[in-house]
Amino acid sequence: MCGIFASIGSREAAPLILAGLRQLEYRGYDSSGIATIKVDDQGIGQLTCLKAKGKLDNLILKYEKFGATGLCGIGHIRWATHGRPDERNAHPHLDGESQIAVVLNGIIENYQSLKEILEKQGVVFLSDTDAEVIPHQVAQELKCLQKEGQPASGHLLLIAVQRVVSCIKGNYALAVTWVKTPEALVVASKQAPLLIGLGAGEFLCASDTPALAGFTRNILPMNEGEIALLTPLGIELYDDKGDRQYRVPNLLSIDDQIADKRNFRHFMLKEIYEQAETTALWVDRYLNKTDSITDVVNQPLVSLKIKDTVFEGVERIQILACGTSRHASLIGGYLFEQLAGIPTSVFYASEFRYSPPPLLPNTLTIGVTQSGETADTLAALAMEQQRVQAKNDSTFMACQLGITNRPESSLGRRISNILNIEVGTEVGVAATKTFLGQLLAFYSLALSFAERRESLPHYELKALVDELKQLPHYLEKLIKEHDQLCASIACHFSDVKDVVFLGRGINYPIALEGALKLKEISYIHAAGYPAGEMKHGPIALLDASVPVISIAVPGIVFDKVISNAQEAKARDAKLIGVGPIGPETQLFDILLPIPKVSEWLSPLLTIIPMQLLSYHIAARRGLDVDQPRNLAKSVTVE
Ligand code: G6P
Repeated sequence: MCGIFASIGSREAAPLILAGLRQLEYRGYDSSGIATIKVDDQGIGQLTCLKAKGKLDNLILKYEKFGATGLCGIGHIRWATHGRPDERNAHPHLDGESQIAVVLNGIIENYQSLKEILEKQGVVFLSDTDAEVIPHQVAQELKCLQKEGQPASGHLLLIAVQRVVSCIKGNYALAVTWVKTPEALVVASKQAPLLIGLGAGEFLCASDTPALAGFTRNILPMNEGEIALLTPLGIELYDDKGDRQYRVPNLLSIDDQIADKRNFRHFMLKEIYEQAETTALWVDRYLNKTDSITDVVNQPLVSLKIKDTVFEGVERIQILACGTSRHASLIGGYLFEQLAGIPTSVFYASEFRYSPPPLLPNTLTIGVTQSGETADTLAALAMEQQRVQAKNDSTFMACQLGITNRPESSLGRRISNILNIEVGTEVGVAATKTFLGQLLAFYSLALSFAERRESLPHYELKALVDELKQLPHYLEKLIKEHDQLCASIACHFSDVKDVVFLGRGINYPIALEGALKLKEISYIHAAGYPAGEMKHGPIALLDASVPVISIAVPGIVFDKVISNAQEAKARDAKLIGVGPIGPETQLFDILLPIPKVSEWLSPLLTIIPMQLLSYHIAARRGLDVDQPRNLAKSVTVE
């Protein structure tokens, strides 16, 4: 979590850092800060540090008032872990003499013991953060090195930071400046993303590629445990043993378009609308276009850009993910089991790591993360990789598959098989188009497995693919209709404190996702249940003040869901239905109509009213839809 941006070169650093931080704002907006070093007329370095609580705009106001000059600087955007989200805890943190400034993304797990030692030595801490131990420690190391007679230099700063990081536990990305070396910046990374950008006459460093994309396309992602010295003249990169590393930078391939809201009030609404277009692109890229039966049999129904080895010898699948990505994975699991006949387990990545199931042979592990940076998911995948390698038995599958919207992310760098959902930049913190993109990735995979394994007759699979081709058209119409409809019914939720979402079978994860979306952006408590479970406890919550949103689409559980909805109605709950217009759905007080499609495909449509209802409820409440409180789009701490 948090975002780092640093710059050194021939241009003023502050404007570059503020522009870079703007692109990182999705990573946190509890506070932000900047530190720059300028050289005065006597050739002495002077450090300016500005910090502000809340959004980046508050820091920009301070910058406009007070200024921060210098060709070298570091900046930070914070999502609070240790210490309240106030200015005192904002980064950069300084040492006691305000000579060293540090920004950190991650968690220093042993900071308490380090802090105690420093406090015993008389160091005074000004914040509650774990990060503040770093500048104090670097200051101590520098003093020791200078006592040994070594003059101030970028290399001295490098050695000091190397010594400090060798004592800290945890995962982090950090950037350090020293007032005595305005021509040097030191950056380090361990299990937290950090990328160096090679610009024209400058070197930059950031937590994520979009922040660098406006400056350069030459990117050098830092590897595990690496540390680098950046100067206006070049980069020196070292591994955790201190050995110099030489690598050629990657050429950035992502589109570097500056995210633009167009005429939409919020990014989230724009991104909901974009789902029709991203689905049309997916249909075009992956689905078999021919209608002739012979050709269809000769060509796969779905063409995926992943290696065949992913499909070979798979007897079971396990999926690791968090949040919305886990909800998409639950639908993926349903499809793998019911469509392709492959036993599948879906895990919270954060739980898997500490209670993994016994290792079974021929298990394909899939990691799903839109950002490609979620620390829990990356750690769970790495742990599983280690467990498999430790078996040293080829029946245990070493191959893993990653599903992400960011192939250039940490996930993309660690896993060679990546299914890129390619839905374009998602700015809204609440995932919408990336969720649909993940679902489509699972449909592609499950259909490919089903076709290869002949788990269903080919004509049935072909009928599904044909129906999927209609999806963009359905979505375009549905989004427009439901945008208006959800805006008009949002008023019913003005005073609501709890909302229950019900779904069954393939639509149960949509009930979970509907509840998560509502919680995330409207701050209304919501819970999703499998409809049949409601009578086993949650029904006790129901009265006229608790709306129940029930997903009822034709299929094997349609009648059951309708009966479950009747049970809620009998308890005076206000009933909102998501399903087709017809006699069965007349019981709903409000119906959010969905066209009749095969039950298999229904989640791709039922998700739309879930997203739009949450959006309109939150917007009506005047909340910050795109940057809801306490959340961040990429959670790089475990
Ligand atoms: C954060 C976000 C959630 C997201 C989850 C997983 O908690 O607030 O909206 O679903 O991370 O993100 P990922 O990038 O792994 O899909």
